[in-house]
Amino acid sequence: MELQGWILHCRAGYEPTLAAEATAAAQQVGVYGYCRAQEQSAYVIFHAPAGDAPAPPHLVFARAAAGLVEEFRGLPEGGRAEAIAAALPPGLGSATPWLEHPDSEEGRPLARFCRRFAGPLRQALECAGITTGDPQQRLRLLFPDSRHCLAGVATSDGWPGGIPRLRMPRSAPSRSVLKLEEALHRLVPTHEQPYPGERAVDLGAAPGGWTWLLRERGLSVTAIDNGPLAPELAEDPGVEHLRSDAFRFQPRGEVDWLVCDVVDRPQGITRLMSRWLRGGQARAAVFNLKLPMRRPLETVRTALEAIRDTGAGVHAAQLYHDREEITVYARRLASRNRS
Ligand SMILES: C[S@@+](CC[C@H](N)C(=O)[O-])C[C@H]1O[C@@H](n2cnc3c(N)ncnc32)[C@H](O)[C@@H]1O
Repeated sequence: MELQGWILHCRAGYEPTLAAEATAAAQQVGVYGYCRAQEQSAYVIFHAPAGDAPAPPHLVFARAAAGLVEEFRGLPEGGRAEAIAAALPPGLGSATPWLEHPDSEEGRPLARFCRRFAGPLRQALECAGITTGDPQQRLRLLFPDSRHCLAGVATSDGWPGGIPRLRMPRSAPSRSVLKLEEALHRLVPTHEQPYPGERAVDLGAAPGGWTWLLRERGLSVTAIDNGPLAPELAEDPGVEHLRSDAFRFQPRGEVDWLVCDVVDRPQGITRLMSRWLRGGQARAAVFNLKLPMRRPLETVRTALEAIRDTGAGVHAAQLYHDREEITVYARRLASRNRS
């Protein structure tokens, strides 16, 4: 199918960064185009005027992405669903189109409109024979406002708008648990997930959200932090709490997982993670990189390159639960298969 470009969702404020990343990624595969990116809008549209865009690549600063097939402006108040259905190419949708709004100040109030419009739109799509296509594909419809719609196609994974529906577990000691959970969902393939019986080190562990999640998954955890852990973790025999400095701590032997939520300069965290991965002290790592105000894309590129240089495969994204940071998953390539 001809794609006119990409529909990309992001954290509000990161539109210029995502636009630069998308344009560079397109050029790398010989596709030339331009981005429409309005500050604080929480989305970016990449246009390929030749209509030759491939499926969107993985972009660190994109929460969600779809191939752009059509844009509708000035949709009529009455007959909006029919107007969309009539203009879409046939055979592209799935039985469950996703109606999305930007995750911005202006966009969030549209959640109500999207919920109400879902029924009429599904009916109109069915009448037009659009919803009989490949069930592996999503028809993603982004509404920047109720009369403006960007229609796109994407594979069926992910969440609408890239916003995960994760419930805060009642007994978890901090909301940070949601960040690690989202990272495991988004960045770590099924066959590489943390496994019961594996060993983990959690740097900057207190009060213990990440340690709690790893314990839920059945791992034993060495938690490094000068601060106190939540009482139930402090008493858990599967948790060893050491009041050490994350930058000086040396593990006894190899661990399966290194996780790190220490707030520090990205260069410092990159060096620390590289040392563990290169030295064979950790098989896999999940960590945050705080973003500088200026030139965040360059900082991310340099950091990920340094991690790749250790011989690790790297997958990174600015998650929904990330603020001024990204989350990185790195795994030593020789250790992809469990022994
Ligand atoms: C954002 S919090 C971690 C939250 C944790 N991941 C959770 O889920 O509850 C950052 C932690 O890093 C710790 N920290 C900062 N610098 C550190 C260092 N050099 N060594 C060890 N811990 C450090 C702080 O004490 C703080 O508890």
